[in-house]
Amino acid sequence: MNVVLFGPPGAGKGTQAKELAKHYTIPHISTGDILRANVREGTDLGIRARKYMDKGELVPDEVLIGLISNRLSEPDCVSGYILDGYPRTVPQADALRGILEQISKPLDAVVNIEVSDEELVKRLSGRRSCNCGESYHIAFNPPQKEGYCNVCGNDLYQREDDMEEVIRQRLAVYNDKTKPLIDYYTDMGLIVNVDGAGSVESVFSQICRIMDQYK
Ligand code: AP5
Ligand code: MG
Ligand code: ZN
Repeated sequence: MNVVLFGPPGAGKGTQAKELAKHYTIPHISTGDILRANVREGTDLGIRARKYMDKGELVPDEVLIGLISNRLSEPDCVSGYILDGYPRTVPQADALRGILEQISKPLDAVVNIEVSDEELVKRLSGRRSCNCGESYHIAFNPPQKEGYCNVCGNDLYQREDDMEEVIRQRLAVYNDKTKPLIDYYTDMGLIVNVDGAGSVESVFSQICRIMDQYK
């Protein structure tokens, strides 16, 4: 099962991908999570990426292409993968085609999670994140104990790029650079649209109905 979870910032890619990875026992590959781990560890990649991330800009394509190429060649991807946050530009999608051909793991589907801009802003401005990869929402999905992660107990924090001004910039970058990939993958016959406005559970069951076809 080889899928891309596609959608604007705040659509619920990370929330869904985490559950889907457990359900189907395949890796969840989030370029955003990988970059944030590098920022925390202060690696050269993290130092370079942070300048873009904090402003809501995309990190340069050549950085992302190298990163995803390495990740997809790791052994856990033999049974499939769920990509979250990659590709985000046409050059990234072109590079992905080449990488997937080489490892003989072509895409089964690109699941496009659709959510209105108004709802995206609400979701992102209320999100609280944990370094372990979990994320919550102060109103829609609050943690059991306010301010702390249900899974690991660590303090939750608000991402730098979840400030209202940066959210607007991320949505603009999505519309300009990433949204054109919907046509790109429609032309390849891979796009499947999902209504992302419902509950986490209802979106999950819509996506499972799609992914079950590729088991
Ligand atoms: P990244 O981490 O990928 O951020 P993003 O795409 O902007 O998406 P988000 O993680 O913000 O949203 P999500 O769809 O995962 O939503 P979530 O499930 O958390 O990228 C960050 C940055 O890294 C980029 O800006 C860029 O700089 C860089 N980067 C990463 N990849 C790159 C690439 N390929 N090329 C270049 N640069 C790259 O949900 C959001 C909130 O809503 C949560 O609070 C959640 O609890 C809540 N929620 C989720 N589902 C529901 C629901 N159904 N109902 C109610 N609330 C919900
Ligand atoms: Mg995410
Ligand atoms: Zn945690």
